[in-house]
Amino acid sequence: MLSKLSEAEKEINSITIANKEELENFRLRFISRNGLLSKLFDELKNVSKDEKPVIGKKLNEVKKLAEEKYSSVKQSIEESGSKAEEIDLTLPGRNFSIGRQHILIQTLNEFVKIFREIGFKVTEGPELEEEFYNFDALNTPEHHPARDLQDTFYIQNKFDKTKKYVLRTHTSPVQVRTMLANKPPIRIICPGKVFRNETVTPKNYFMFHQVEGLYVDKNVSMRDLKGVISYFVKKFYGENTKTRFIPSFFPFTEPSAQLDITCFICEGKGCKTCKDTGWLEIGGCGMVHPNVFKAVGYDPEEYTGYAFGMGIERIAMMKYGIKDIRLFYQNDVRFLDQF
Ligand code: PHE
Repeated sequence: MLSKLSEAEKEINSITIANKEELENFRLRFISRNGLLSKLFDELKNVSKDEKPVIGKKLNEVKKLAEEKYSSVKQSIEESGSKAEEIDLTLPGRNFSIGRQHILIQTLNEFVKIFREIGFKVTEGPELEEEFYNFDALNTPEHHPARDLQDTFYIQNKFDKTKKYVLRTHTSPVQVRTMLANKPPIRIICPGKVFRNETVTPKNYFMFHQVEGLYVDKNVSMRDLKGVISYFVKKFYGENTKTRFIPSFFPFTEPSAQLDITCFICEGKGCKTCKDTGWLEIGGCGMVHPNVFKAVGYDPEEYTGYAFGMGIERIAMMKYGIKDIRLFYQNDVRFLDQF
């Protein structure tokens, strides 16, 4: 009996169990009701009284050994088994989508990058703006007919009666703020949201994005303006794009011009996008009005400057053939995913 026990002990110690099946065989052989150890327990009653304590003790030890081995191997098989189950190599790959920049931001960044490379600094200002910066300082005093050019959202100010607020109708107030805080030379680009109380249509929305540029120094001329605009236009739309200035009116510039480029779709031949004219309007520009310089404390005899402004939505719509401005703001991934 003792020899059988020590044989079993040796075997239990040395046996290797690699998987669930072998573990079950081990259980059946040693631990189960019909296993070896149960049989030996049964045989215990045939053992002499003197031997019983010794053999009984040994039997219990071997049983414990077998049970411990069983449970520790079982645990490690379960652990590694559950890991293996997590990775099912037959499953199709999981698609995960990466976020991307909104097409308007992409267009804006492309725009700003071109100007930064030639020394323009990006400057920003508030969207809720004082009337003074949005109009008065830009040569547009109250009751000036030019205020009607931009349908303004006026904001009630119950707290400070000395200040009147609007949602800025253009990014030009950033020019005023920058000039008030700095001395020339100034070379800035101001991107941002602007608001106009317009009826929503495929072409108009009550909010859109503008980029405004301003350069002030001694001896800045219209020629510099034309030079920098044609440089930008060639970079942005392609080397063959031409620029033309058409006389226009803005209260804060004199002379003022509408900014046209040759249609980049038909290259000036005439198509649907340019309505057969060969030209597309992309913004406005001009030489800073002396009254604007006076409002910010610059001497108009000493300094001159140019300014220009362009709408980002308009530029992106023309570039990508987007027919409805509202698509930009609906957050429909079917639209956004295309860019
Ligand atoms: N601020 C003008 C607008 O929104 C555009 C502009 C900017 C025109 C600078 C001339 C100079 O209409």
